[in-house]
Amino acid sequence: MTGKMEYLTFFNGHKMPILGLGTAHALGDDIEKAIDAALEIGYRHIDTAQRYNNEAQIGRALKKWLDSGKIKREDLFIVTKLPLTGNRAECVEKHLKQSLHDLQLDYVDLYLIHHPVGFQDLDPKDNGEEMLLDMNTDHVSLWKAMEDQVDAGRARSIGLSNFNARQVKRVWRSARIKPANLQVELHVYFQQSELRAFCRALDITICGYIPLGAPGVRPPGRAAITVDASKMPKRDQMTNPVVSQIAQKHGKTNAQVLLRYIIQLGVAAIPKSTNPDRLRQNFDVFDFELSAEDMDTLEQLDKGPAGRQVRAFIPEMANHPEYPFNAHY
Ligand code: A2P
Repeated sequence: MTGKMEYLTFFNGHKMPILGLGTAHALGDDIEKAIDAALEIGYRHIDTAQRYNNEAQIGRALKKWLDSGKIKREDLFIVTKLPLTGNRAECVEKHLKQSLHDLQLDYVDLYLIHHPVGFQDLDPKDNGEEMLLDMNTDHVSLWKAMEDQVDAGRARSIGLSNFNARQVKRVWRSARIKPANLQVELHVYFQQSELRAFCRALDITICGYIPLGAPGVRPPGRAAITVDASKMPKRDQMTNPVVSQIAQKHGKTNAQVLLRYIIQLGVAAIPKSTNPDRLRQNFDVFDFELSAEDMDTLEQLDKGPAGRQVRAFIPEMANHPEYPFNAHY
């Protein structure tokens, strides 16, 4: 690989590698091996969540690397997220401590509220895997508990995920420690231009999830949280002829062009892969640059809100007062 990693700088001076590894739906041995391969390739930014059920495996792989001395903790940028069942102030410390225990770390670089919608904290064993909404989710008190995690040294920075502009603004206004980052769905078919401009004005960086438009099939997880891939819009970014033409011109793959586009928008990207060849390919995006004309051409592929793929992963979520995706942005 040639070319150098680029970084986003948070308002507090912390730097996030602009390309990271997404780990949603990557479980067990697969993810442990993928982390190993990714660190070997040079990935240093790893994105996980308590909801992904893979923090313990990621923690094992990280510990091996940290113990061997091949990598230092300060070289890593580890992101995890408060589960939707923990969206109450009194739950935050418990969940972050659990994540740190599983990841075998003293702190995370970034802790995000995974979603503005909250669920009751019911044990799925007692509840037939049904998830019940908590209609009293209050982002302002929740954020205060997030700030306490920075004070306690458990998180270097804190942020939000899946929040819309109104929800971000409310937290931002009330915050003693501002959100450093917003993680949202973002790819060439759903470019989030208004949300990007809005966050730029508040000095909040953005990280895009499913940056390749999730071309793979998701393995089944817990029944209640499985995304039904057949109900998603057609996912053809990886074979889109406009993308292919630009890729050919640069001697790159479609995936590399899609990732480079996001990076040149000034947004971090966290493509998920457990395949070493694709991990390498996705990381090899720092030795070429898209021209202004390429950028304009790719901008035309935006479908706006119609390009959104991830909505309510449980239909009832849409009934929650903080369901974020009815707003235009
Ligand atoms: P795999 O893990 O087998 O590589 P997204 O991050 O947009 O959700 O995309 C992730 C999906 O895309 C996964 O199914 C992953 O499968 C696949 N994928 C990741 N990188 C590439 C690539 N460079 N080319 C083709 N498919 C990819």
